[in-house]
Amino acid sequence: MIGDRQTSTQRARTLPACKEALPVRVPLARRPMGIRETLATARRNVLELVPESATVQPIVSGRVGRRWHMVMDPGALRTILRERPGDYPKSDITRAILQPAIGDSLFIANGAHWRWQRRAAAPAFNARHIAALAPVMSRAAEASAARIAAEIERQGGEAVIDMHEEMVAATFDIIASVTLAGEDGSRTLAPAIVRKAINDYLAAAARVSLLDLLGISSRIPRPGRLFRSGAIRRMHALAEEAIARRRRRGPLPEPDLLDLLIAARDAETGRAMNDIEIRDNLLTFIVAGHETTALALAWSFYLLAFDERVATRAATEARSVLAGRVAGHDDLPRLGFVRQVIEEALRLYPPAAFLTRTAARHDTLLGRPVRAGDAIILPIYALHRHRLLWERPDAFDPDRFAPGRPIVPMSHLPFGDGPRVCIGARFAMTEAVIILATLLDRFHIAGLAGPPPRPVMILTLHPVGGVLLRMRKR
Ligand code: HEM
Repeated sequence: MIGDRQTSTQRARTLPACKEALPVRVPLARRPMGIRETLATARRNVLELVPESATVQPIVSGRVGRRWHMVMDPGALRTILRERPGDYPKSDITRAILQPAIGDSLFIANGAHWRWQRRAAAPAFNARHIAALAPVMSRAAEASAARIAAEIERQGGEAVIDMHEEMVAATFDIIASVTLAGEDGSRTLAPAIVRKAINDYLAAAARVSLLDLLGISSRIPRPGRLFRSGAIRRMHALAEEAIARRRRRGPLPEPDLLDLLIAARDAETGRAMNDIEIRDNLLTFIVAGHETTALALAWSFYLLAFDERVATRAATEARSVLAGRVAGHDDLPRLGFVRQVIEEALRLYPPAAFLTRTAARHDTLLGRPVRAGDAIILPIYALHRHRLLWERPDAFDPDRFAPGRPIVPMSHLPFGDGPRVCIGARFAMTEAVIILATLLDRFHIAGLAGPPPRPVMILTLHPVGGVLLRMRKR
């Protein structure tokens, strides 16, 4: 977002160009740490607790309070995520942290309660519905382009813009429109209000010990008190009002996600969601759905900013397809390279940099005994840079994802895998390609300004310091 105009202008004048040769990398742990060092590292960046050996080994185990296993082996990942997800449910820690905000919704429910919600929500994310929602994405891309163009104009032909902030604004526009389209009047669930509530919530969540988040502390956090704050209450009340209004008025002519959730029926039992379930899933979509996609886009811009060859190739594709118009759903098949850039950004900087599970029963993984209650960590960041799975793992090379080029199965998991794979993956990729192509067609990225962003895990993998790009119109 281009909120801090004064600062942007100052930065444009003063920041030197970035001279980094390689994409920035998280400094992973090179030796075992004592508890003090572990805590200090976790406070700085929980991802730095992942040992460097996780990029060469199939599994790494240890104990901090409870036993933990980090799994990078594609076969074992298949077992955990795809073949026996019931033996490896979502971790108790993730549930404890997120439940006060998003209830027992799709994202954290386990067992039968998860299964029926997934079946009920799935149709809202099928290819037909995503195609129908694409015009909203195009409108948000157009609005983002207009904000950037205005800022460039204001700053006299070239502007330094924080593309992370701008992408959060664009993806929030989209998720707010497709969850709450048609909400109007003074009691509206306005984006600014929801964003403020979410930001307050995330700030509170970040205060929960990061070790707890990683799932390796034996202490189960009780963040309920922390989160019984105004932010969550406000967010719940706003969503409840929106649901009640929609029930009174009936569905919109073009149904949005709220309409689809209200109409959702379990294909097997016919059960519908009650208002609390609708509220919690609606908020889940808002929280899970915009920040992650904004990160994918922000990291894509960062990677393009210092690789002129790739940036030119992606921009040339966008220009040949769009030539100044906004991208739409029908353009997607001809924007293959733009999509490859996003896939590669998701590999190098996966927003969900690790996933956590709790072992539900005794098992053996890669010959190693796993006991019920052990923490299972799937460090997607390390998997995506694993020396045995990827050639030149730290290099930015979107051609890895060129059609016909094989990649090792289960080695690229930005959206997870198995029955709990991200329900919004198609939605996310559609909006990301539409936004990136539209902006590359219109603007020249003249390079990174100032120091590169630091990848820090704050629930998701953030570019701390911002993605400050010099931009001008083509
Ligand atoms: C680039 C963007 C995105 C990334 C990287 C991402 C990543 C993920 C990952 C890794 C998971 C699996 C978590 C696990 O197994 O523990 C997940 C699940 C989920 N995501 Fe996404 N996501 C993105 C966008 C979205 C969008 C746009 C939505 C909705 C509008 C969404 C909604 C969800 C939901 C509801 C789940 C839980 C699904 C279930 O457990 O059945 N995500 N996401």
